[in-house]
Amino acid sequence: MREAAALLAQARRVVVFTGAGISAESGVPTFRDALTGLWRSFDARRLATPDAFRDDPALVWGWYEWRRATAGRARPNAGHVAVAAIEARVPHAVVVTQNVDDLHERAGSVAPIHLHGSLSAPRCSACARPAPLPAEPPLPDATSLSAEAPPLSGGATLRAEPPLPSGTPDEHGDGRRVAPPRCAHCAGPVRPGVVWFGEALPSAALEAAVEAASACDLLLTVGTSGLVYPAAEIPRVAARFGALVVQVNPEETPLDAVADVNLRGPAAQVLPALVRAAWGAADPA
Ligand code: APR
Repeated sequence: MREAAALLAQARRVVVFTGAGISAESGVPTFRDALTGLWRSFDARRLATPDAFRDDPALVWGWYEWRRATAGRARPNAGHVAVAAIEARVPHAVVVTQNVDDLHERAGSVAPIHLHGSLSAPRCSACARPAPLPAEPPLPDATSLSAEAPPLSGGATLRAEPPLPSGTPDEHGDGRRVAPPRCAHCAGPVRPGVVWFGEALPSAALEAAVEAASACDLLLTVGTSGLVYPAAEIPRVAARFGALVVQVNPEETPLDAVADVNLRGPAAQVLPALVRAAWGAADPA
């Protein structure tokens, strides 16, 4: 911790690169964690690909509306707040995230770069024009979704997370499948504004992330398994251009080999401690 704090205190240009793990303590499931990861319960091929949306738009839209509602009910945690504190302290700081939630923004981060899109930016799947967000995401209960979602190999289906407490707003219409809205311009089905498997990342975001990584002197990688490319290349770009890399993750990842310092622990505990160790008790938040 002391070594990482010294690196942070003297850094002039910092990139904070985040993944699903930074939102885990806010109640937003990660993707690959053993028990709670979404891809343990849901079949990514049938929910997070262009083909899946073409084949069953209502299932896919319903699932992303459930994720949007879950993220909407979550609150930024101390990890997100510490990231905003780092931005406020370091002369040049850029947040690059793989997350599609807006918890960084809600914690005060300024214009984080979203490499995998955002749950808050739907667009027409035909003409690509931006589409308005539906008023209130319907909140199908998770059990029905996992019961609906195609069984994982071996036939076992697991629930993503426990059903929400009673009193959750009424489910929308038939609950599981939610027909996507239609584009006001071309009547095409509106799709979530996220990057699906097999799709290219938004080029402007990727370019800005590579530029920031190649110019930084310290990159903090927080809560990512470092398995999904090209995003997982960002910490390696920083290291190749001479930056030091600090990883925050309770588990080992392939980024262990890239990192100069590995801090093992949950982001909402480790990041505030790192900010305190770097700049003393009073952080600017
Ligand atoms: N604090 C820090 N890290 C955590 C925490 C926590 N509280 N809880 C879990 N982690 C770590 C896990 O150990 C794991 O290494 O977060 C990582 C989450 O990994 P993934 O679930 O693979 O998420 P991510 O790396 O963001 O996935 C990349 O894959 O499915 C696609 O598009 C999706 O953006 C996503 C991409």
